[in-house]
Amino acid sequence: MVDQGDNLEAISTQNPRKVTESPHVLSAVINRRSTGRLKEPGPGKTELESIIKAALSAPDHGRLRPWRFVVFQGEARDRFGIILADALRRRLESKGHAPTELLMSKERNKLLRAPCVIAVGAAIDRDSHIPVIEQFGATAAACENMLIAATALGLGSMWRTGDPSYDNSVKVALGLRETDMIAGWIYLGSVEEPPSVRAFGGDFEQYVSHWK
Ligand SMILES: Cc1cc2nc3c(=O)[nH]c(=O)nc-3n(C[C@H](O)[C@H](O)[C@H](O)COP(=O)(O)O)c2cc1C
Repeated sequence: MVDQGDNLEAISTQNPRKVTESPHVLSAVINRRSTGRLKEPGPGKTELESIIKAALSAPDHGRLRPWRFVVFQGEARDRFGIILADALRRRLESKGHAPTELLMSKERNKLLRAPCVIAVGAAIDRDSHIPVIEQFGATAAACENMLIAATALGLGSMWRTGDPSYDNSVKVALGLRETDMIAGWIYLGSVEEPPSVRAFGGDFEQYVSHWK
């Protein structure tokens, strides 16, 4: 684990508590990294429940619970791949482009990049006084909670979006409305070897200032 203690203390001068209070949680947050190639085994039933529970614990203005989770495992990934490829073909044809077999097969196999993929939708309440961006923000926080939970469980993870996330036919296939949003696709599985941890050495000043 990268020791971030000194730097963290520098940005939290209002809080004298030691950052080592919950080393496991903090380690999962700081050491989380994306892994593109994820293999079997994916999360087991209990692990999946913990990951979803973490998502459901995200902060949520107005308690609207906008998040919707669709879990893909096993052959469901192949079946949804056909829907993704159909959607890509329509997008390409609408722009006058030809859907090549290479593009189609890449799209069909997209969800096979991990043993488990969770599509995360934001069911937006357009009549609510809570701004849409905040409803989406709560759903994005749920995504990050899932990545952290997966890391804490020793699983690899990656948050992806891409064109299907903005395709109305894909939203509807997920059980969402066209007016809803897709916050991402959370890929989960085992890693060959832990991803290397980037140290955020010394550039806090670029992102953090203390109002005086
Ligand atoms: C909203 C969102 C969408 C993302 N979409 C993609 C994506 O479509 N493809 C991809 O390779 N990575 C995607 N990422 C992952 C980022 O590229 C990744 O987090 C970044 O490369 C930093 O690497 P790290 O997660 O290891 O710190 C996405 C991340 C977020 C937050």
